[in-house]
Amino acid sequence: MSAPRQASAVATSNIALVKYWGKRDLALNLPATGSISVTLNALETRTTVCFDEDLAADAIRLGGKTTGTERIAAFLDLVRELAGTDSRAAVTSENDFPTGAGLASSASGFAALALACDAALGLGLSTAALSVLARRGSGSAARSLVGGYAEMAAGSAPDGHDAYASPLAPPECLPLALLVAVTTAAPKTVGSTEGMQRTEATSPYHAAWVRSTQGDLDRMRAAILAGDLEQVGTLAEGNALRMHADMLAASPPLLYWNAATVAAMRTVHDLRATGTGAWFTIDAGPQVKVLCAPSDADGVAAALAATAGVEQVLRAAPGPGARLVERVS
Ligand code: DP6
Repeated sequence: MSAPRQASAVATSNIALVKYWGKRDLALNLPATGSISVTLNALETRTTVCFDEDLAADAIRLGGKTTGTERIAAFLDLVRELAGTDSRAAVTSENDFPTGAGLASSASGFAALALACDAALGLGLSTAALSVLARRGSGSAARSLVGGYAEMAAGSAPDGHDAYASPLAPPECLPLALLVAVTTAAPKTVGSTEGMQRTEATSPYHAAWVRSTQGDLDRMRAAILAGDLEQVGTLAEGNALRMHADMLAASPPLLYWNAATVAAMRTVHDLRATGTGAWFTIDAGPQVKVLCAPSDADGVAAALAATAGVEQVLRAAPGPGARLVERVS
């Protein structure tokens, strides 16, 4: 019998500037393409994990609830396999962002969980290996291990050991404000894993989407390293719209937008038409994420807040990667 082994970690969400939408292997959760993202200084998950040989079963609480924990349980099985242990675990995880706002939590959630499991079990994984582990939970989580701007490699190895995120540039390379326009209705939509499978199987545009990503990655990498906000924003908006074109072409179609989503997109275009540099990106949901210079953030936030159907506007900036903390819950 060994003593319970416990650790806590914090990770924040990230926003993809060049999106991941498609897999080259479902079982290992390997992306079909690379992606580039910025890790935020807000939208945080705090997770404590305790491996305890006295536990008869995993005890998982997400935001105080014991429901919807299947993916965490499957991830703990992977960790046990890696560590060569049978020990069950108690996991508590809390998000600091409003639940029910339709904001994805799998990126911050699996990044925090991977780091906490590594520390609790003393696995000593490298950042790359941690990113590989987090990817098994959720592809976007691989990027939240890394702070600032991150690039996720698709890799080519069948076992996925080369599909992980690496630092591309620190936050100060391109100072940004990221505003999240939370739209009124947050209808239950199709999750990313299922949405990707449907798109791959039915969208006639999917092969073109996958092909177009490499050029976007090359241009986005160069624009970030040059600190060129206008180019980053232009590329991010175009990339998001092409991903949604692919989704819309699936059968049945994946329409993640509501009326307020479209209204917020128009607000961003109106801001640009009147000389304010602002660009949107949208993931597999109805929220609109807007990039702008920090000095324009107040004006852009006010314009988004005044848009019909926008319920609240959250603010973030580029931030650090996942990190260990003292016990949090
Ligand atoms: C549209 O990482 O949530 O946000 O790997 O199946 O868990 P799984 O998918 P997930 O997909 C993210 C899709 C996206 C684009 C992105 O973040 O790159």
